[in-house]
Amino acid sequence: MSDAALEIRSLHSGYGRVPVLHGISARIEPGETVGLIGPNGHGKSTLFRTLSGLLPAWSGSVHFLGRDITNKSPSAIVESGLIHVPQGNTLFPDLTVQENLWLGAFAKGPRAERRKTIERVFSLFPRLAERRGQRCRTLSGGERQMVAIGCGLMGLPKLLILDEPTLGLSPKLKMELRDAIAAIIGSGVQTIIVEQDPEFLQTLATRFLLVSEGAVHAEISGAGGLEHQRIVEMYFGHA
Ligand SMILES: Nc1ncnc2c1ncn2[C@@H]1O[C@H](COP(=O)(O)OP(=O)(O)O)[C@@H](O)[C@H]1O
Ligand SMILES: [Mg+2]
Repeated sequence: MSDAALEIRSLHSGYGRVPVLHGISARIEPGETVGLIGPNGHGKSTLFRTLSGLLPAWSGSVHFLGRDITNKSPSAIVESGLIHVPQGNTLFPDLTVQENLWLGAFAKGPRAERRKTIERVFSLFPRLAERRGQRCRTLSGGERQMVAIGCGLMGLPKLLILDEPTLGLSPKLKMELRDAIAAIIGSGVQTIIVEQDPEFLQTLATRFLLVSEGAVHAEISGAGGLEHQRIVEMYFGHA
């Protein structure tokens, strides 16, 4: 069998001595776009912090493109191409749009490419091109989210993980962001998206995983996307 893009085997982790991930397993094939849904507080962000090396894995393993990255340093994991755009506002508010974007290209390979990459980010998000010299604290929530995703792209991801990119955005901005994410996927960047609103994912993801209580509880694949009934079943269990 060929290598998975990402293979998570029975991963356990948590905070202090409090467990959050109870043996989560998932296999993500090259090229598929995975949507992760599930109730609040059930370990989605904790999973990505563990994959990124920000939290230690207590047991289990993570393989990325055939290499074991379990408990490697966050910078080594970023350099391997696994890039996680965390939930919430993580920009430097007093730096400009462009300065924040440069920081996303800190690794050696991406740094060499950064002038080319930033132009790609600006063509994807024309609003950012107009505001490249503006301090991030003065941006709207949607624009900040674009910068955060742009920072992820500056690192030249082989797999881009977006953790609730639409949190707090208006419906109109959500649509705009969805188009931009579709363009990112269309440009060949494999993506995992965490999202509270399954409808947002319908046109983006090719497979859906439901995370609850720190484990994958169900999955749906297929072209038809998520129908309402299926979502209800996933959240509330089968009749
Ligand atoms: N920094 C933290 N310190 C301690 N507990 C945390 C921390 N972040 C999250 N948790 C707890 O871990 C659990 C899972 O949270 P999280 O992974 O953020 O869920 P989700 O992303 O699915 O909403 C929750 O019970 C939450 O309270
Ligand atoms: Mg979360």
